[in-house]
Amino acid sequence: QLAAAPATSLPIPPVADSRVEDGIRVFELEARTGTLDLVPGFPTTSAGFNGPYLGPTLRAERGEHVRVKITNSLDEVTSVHWHGMHLPPEMDGGPHQPVAAGSTWEPEWLIDQPAATLWYHPHPHGETQRHVNLGLAGMFIVDDADAPEGLPSDYGVDDVPVIVQDKMVGDEGDFLLDSSGNEVGTLGKTLLVNGVRNAQLEVASRRIRLRLLNAAPARTFNFTFADSREFALIASDGGLLTAPVPLTSIRLSPAERAEIVVDIEPGERVMLRSAGVELGAVAVPAAFGGDDEFDVLELRAAGELAPSSSVPETLASIERLREDDAVGLREFRLADRKINSKDMDMGRVDEIVRVGTTEVWEVRNTNPYPHNFHVHDVQFQVLAIDGEEPPPELGGWKDTIYLEPRRVYRIILRFGDYTSSSVPYMYHCHLLLHEDEGMMGQFVVLEKGE
Ligand code: C2O
Ligand code: CU
Repeated sequence: QLAAAPATSLPIPPVADSRVEDGIRVFELEARTGTLDLVPGFPTTSAGFNGPYLGPTLRAERGEHVRVKITNSLDEVTSVHWHGMHLPPEMDGGPHQPVAAGSTWEPEWLIDQPAATLWYHPHPHGETQRHVNLGLAGMFIVDDADAPEGLPSDYGVDDVPVIVQDKMVGDEGDFLLDSSGNEVGTLGKTLLVNGVRNAQLEVASRRIRLRLLNAAPARTFNFTFADSREFALIASDGGLLTAPVPLTSIRLSPAERAEIVVDIEPGERVMLRSAGVELGAVAVPAAFGGDDEFDVLELRAAGELAPSSSVPETLASIERLREDDAVGLREFRLADRKINSKDMDMGRVDEIVRVGTTEVWEVRNTNPYPHNFHVHDVQFQVLAIDGEEPPPELGGWKDTIYLEPRRVYRIILRFGDYTSSSVPYMYHCHLLLHEDEGMMGQFVVLEKGE
């Protein structure tokens, strides 16, 4: 039995310490096991970076060189992937960069992308779900001098990381993975935010920015406030939108992020929830968790609030990638646990793209249940969904997109500066059961003529 969970003030993952060595910002992460206290008398085995669960927030500025010294103190191989980061394939941290038990890995790269909420998590071949579910995950915030003034940006105060995960917790406290009864994977009934249940956050100013990350194995959340108040969506996976989008709910599938800014009145309490979600017109939502509702995070405003400036009307300029510039069209059919009828094979290159080119990818979910689609190295734009213009919340940079059942998504991608003849990048469904079962393919970026 789960212990009754008293309201707990939201833990804020600390910003990772770093030092600058020869012009490189150096971080240290140690993957290790720990325990959490969810069921009285039965400590839950967990894992985290530099602590028992989740990891510190890495933070670096566009233009900086970073190095992360990763030590694997687990008793099994893992890896650390920089989800959403534009970087060379050798530094990507996917299944081709395993970190053996007891060893270290020190990837190094240049941060060269706009301000964004990214994240990091293990990506060992076939074991991603188990490692992430134990708690191995953290945020990576990219800052950028071009970001506008006026957004709440006091980390942990009015600019708050919100890492959301549903958990299946066994009678003896262990985190379980069990997908019996549905096609999408483990759908737990226990909701953790930054590692705790029943989280609440004391708010001291009129506006608060929440960096929402769906770090769950399978569940799609539909974030909304209990009183349906409007909020401003300011950023999607890869950074700020051109302008804030007023919304009353935002759907995030596993690995997607959204930054929202919400106003609060003195003395108010308002619950951020995950409401039931339409997972797609032809799906039966209940079987995939679409009917489940959760309280996520209660905001509790102080009696007096500091003023905040209003959200700027212009947030970023985003260069639209043009279909006319695309050199090719590739099609990806997601069906059952395969992409284009193939299972993941680490020794096979599925797609070859040319550096410096733009491509359109047509991604089709042919199943009656949800998938999503994530591409390493690049941020992409969404051109169309079933031939229609995408909604404004999909108007910015994305690295992961929810795929409603039986729909076709046209996305446009530009493969910038990194080539990779020997080490591939991945694309895959980020429902972790599907990913581990092989719903993944590999691409390399080659020089023209190579
Ligand atoms: Cu977040 Cu290939 O993963
Ligand atoms: Cu899938």
